[in-house]
Amino acid sequence: INYQLAKFVASYGKVSQIPESTCPEVSFVGRSNVGKSSIMNKLFGRKNLVKVSSTPGKTSNINFFEADDVHFVDLPGYGFARRSKAERDRWAELIGDFFDSERSFNLVVSLVDIRHDPSKLDHDMIDYLQGNEFNFIVCLTKADKLSRTQQARQAAAIKKQLNVPAENVIITSSQTGTGIDELKKRIAEACL
Ligand code: GTP
Ligand code: MG
Repeated sequence: INYQLAKFVASYGKVSQIPESTCPEVSFVGRSNVGKSSIMNKLFGRKNLVKVSSTPGKTSNINFFEADDVHFVDLPGYGFARRSKAERDRWAELIGDFFDSERSFNLVVSLVDIRHDPSKLDHDMIDYLQGNEFNFIVCLTKADKLSRTQQARQAAAIKKQLNVPAENVIITSSQTGTGIDELKKRIAEACL
């Protein structure tokens, strides 16, 4: 996959607006601020093709990007505390409709902050992916914020808590590029 060809395709506020899949698709899920948009920029080798913000809840639509005939889907984050009930309901409907729809879910990349134990919502999301047999991997994000020893310790703890196969968990950092080659390898395997 030539990531340098990445470009923005479209933004959708409703799943019914999204055209049917015409190519392999890789979607990114995780709580607000976990680093979904940042890891996509890192893959694409671009600074700000995908909007990144230190304010959680920045991405509220489903945003499609494309590189070399693969779609990359930035999904709105969950678990942002200062969100209203109406906003949370909208999120649940959007994500529920998205994963319920007839699409090419080649790979779902589920992001979890390596510094913290997975939240209830992380568990719900990953249990859902596992229960419905989605091809998914867990990327532990922001590894640059921990020492190597702490990374290994947290990764082991999180794998155990989430109860996912060890080979499906990758330690990543969008800042240093740790784990990005491995992520690209998984994407290629799932899409080509
Ligand atoms: P929403 O769109 O709100 O759901 O957030 P998001 O998951 O897209 O997170 P985003 O990529 O916007 O990153 C949130 C914040 O975390 C930004 O301030 C990023 O610079 C920072 N961040 C993301 N990835 C990393 C990382 O690997 N290391 C460090 N140190 N900071 C990161
Ligand atoms: Mg985002």
